[in-house]
Amino acid sequence: MRLKNKVAIVTGGAGGMGQATALRFLAEGAKVVIADFNAASGEDTLKIAAAAGHADTARFIRTDVAQEADIKAMVDCALDHFGRLDVIFNNAGVGGAIGPVWDLEEDEWDYTFDVLVKGVFFGIKHATRVFRRQGEGGNIINTASVAGLSGGCGPLAYSAAKAAVVNLSRAAAVQLAPDRIRVNAICPGFILTGLTHPHQQSLEEAGRFLDGLQPWPQHGRGADIAGTALFLASDDSAFVSGEAIVVDGALTAIGPDMWQRYGVPREATMTKSRLNKGTTGETSTARQLKD
Ligand SMILES: NC(=O)c1ccc[n+]([C@@H]2O[C@H](COP(=O)([O-])OP(=O)(O)OC[C@H]3O[C@@H](n4cnc5c(N)ncnc54)[C@H](O)[C@@H]3O)[C@@H](O)[C@H]2O)c1
Repeated sequence: MRLKNKVAIVTGGAGGMGQATALRFLAEGAKVVIADFNAASGEDTLKIAAAAGHADTARFIRTDVAQEADIKAMVDCALDHFGRLDVIFNNAGVGGAIGPVWDLEEDEWDYTFDVLVKGVFFGIKHATRVFRRQGEGGNIINTASVAGLSGGCGPLAYSAAKAAVVNLSRAAAVQLAPDRIRVNAICPGFILTGLTHPHQQSLEEAGRFLDGLQPWPQHGRGADIAGTALFLASDDSAFVSGEAIVVDGALTAIGPDMWQRYGVPREATMTKSRLNKGTTGETSTARQLKD
């Protein structure tokens, strides 16, 4: 029970990694406000929580994270039902505007930034007001993305928005440290959720497609993000703040994936050990693997 007596809010808590995190937090003893735009998914999530024995410790509130009044109502929901707030996971998200930069419309750009960045700002702002009143510190976790760390991991507007979430998290961590409020971001790679599961594909097909996208043999699951969020929400990470934790099966670690660009399958580089002596004039060698 790593979150016993803690009260948490999870935005986007009725879908994908948010739902996995809400259910994990409940299982770890937290009281959880599940906030989501999609009321039908919210009701379904409450049923799952109730079936797992958490009927009294889970609440749903329909929330548009891009609306400040909704965020305020969401925070008030936690206070009204559970009396305090300890953790907020600003996780709600959409793919947003997708297309060439010269074709994006202002309203499409604004929608993307309103949900992905302004929603996180509102969440930080209103949770912080409560944390400061309570005077016992606080814990903020924001979902960014590997798309916020390079130019090749997602649509342009989405990548810009997620980069903003990474640095918003860092800047807030600095500003809020004196109040012992921790702020961290999670940067997921490809996680199988509604967002990465095109409707024309079966879940298995979508999973198989994602499997091939990173060095790790299997795709990421909501539970992988839930585990990371639990670590950040718990006292096990008491001195971790201002961090952007990448959870991507080594996707970003592989960088430009040189072997693939040379047309050499990665496995082919693992059959022999070689010592390349470059242009020294000495002979390069190759030997069988010892093990
Ligand atoms: N799935 C991935 O591979 C991946 C990778 C990197 C980052 N992310 C990010 O992870 C977060 C969760 O995404 P997911 O993959 O679980 O997607 P998902 O679609 O399964 O869940 C997202 C949830 O957010 C809700 N939501 C959307 N807009 C909202 C709004 N304005 N207000 C409140 N709720 C809203 C949706 O209704 C949905 O329940 C998002 O921020 C997304 O950008 C996802």
